Amino acid sequence: MSTIDLGAAFGIQELAGKQFPAKKAGDRTPAPVFEYIFRIDLLRKMLAWASGNITTSLYLSGPAGAGKTSLPEQMAARLGHGCTTLSCNSRTEKADIVGYIGLEDSKTAFIEGPLVRAMREGEWIVFDEGDALPPSVTITLNRVLEGSPLAIPETGDVIYPHADFRVAFTGNTRGRGDTTGQFRSRNVQDAAVLDRFLFVEVDYPTSQEELNIIAGKCPNLPEDVAAILVQLAGETRNAHMAGELSAPISTRGLVRIASILEAGVFAKLGDANLWESIAFGFADGLGPDESEGIKQILETLMLPASV
Ligand SMILES: Nc1ncnc2c1ncn2[C@@H]1O[C@H](COP(=O)(O)OP(=O)(O)OP(=O)(O)O)[C@@H](O)[C@H]1O
Ligand SMILES: [Mg+2]
Repeated sequence: MSTIDLGAAFGIQELAGKQFPAKKAGDRTPAPVFEYIFRIDLLRKMLAWASGNITTSLYLSGPAGAGKTSLPEQMAARLGHGCTTLSCNSRTEKADIVGYIGLEDSKTAFIEGPLVRAMREGEWIVFDEGDALPPSVTITLNRVLEGSPLAIPETGDVIYPHADFRVAFTGNTRGRGDTTGQFRSRNVQDAAVLDRFLFVEVDYPTSQEELNIIAGKCPNLPEDVAAILVQLAGETRNAHMAGELSAPISTRGLVRIASILEAGVFAKLGDANLWESIAFGFADGLGPDESEGIKQILETLMLPASV
């Protein structure tokens, strides 16, 4: 393995000159999104995990659309690691993860699952929405989560983890159940399983970071429009926290609205275009009362400019 300059790899000046192990990108290295913005506070924790010095297992939690899944994927992209993202749900079975006995070239064989492949090849595996896994499945990963070998009863094989193998879970909950009533398919995970993770909370990026994200994704969108969108998203998050709005505009939602605006989906110019794009990109998914509330917040934000 060679090394890479962290400042150059992640676009963070503060880290310039610091070297970190990196690989040559392979088939399963995610494609880099060059306008992806890394946040230094999160990146430091991620690098501690990626270094393998603390633990192999990381749990990224936080609100929907704030940047959990994309974080390990984009880190893997910059560091050249293979990374498999496994979408989990309450019906995911151990066989989907570890493997199963099936037919290969007309013969019965053990078909390796993504976990075994990642362990052998020294890649990263992301259990996306891992908090939705049945706890009876998650607990079978206990030894793997702490970096121990995996025994495969079907074959009698024992898979020893490659030194570069890492596990990340993402979830809207921290695996201790959903107290908000928003995430219906999440399970309460076993305390012994949760004890094996480093937890990292991925909250929404700061306003400046969201402005940078929009500028990167939608370079033709005027800055003052982007600024209003970011402020509006912040207001919807405050309203959501206060129990006044069922869902806030996430970072994903912001990028979607900005993309609708930039694409010029609505021909009308000015404020009408702005509201129609916000409605299409987000507010139409809520009831009419909530949608009207968001429109009013938008009008308040626009006031100083129109005086
Ligand atoms: N740091 C970032 N830089 C650039 N774009 C970002 C960043 N964070 C989030 N985004 C945008 O937000 C979208 C959602 O990010 P991501 O899928 O990582 O969120 P998530 O937290 O995993 O959401 P969910 O809880 O719904 O699974 C991305 O596709 C991207 O457009
Ligand atoms: Mg996700």
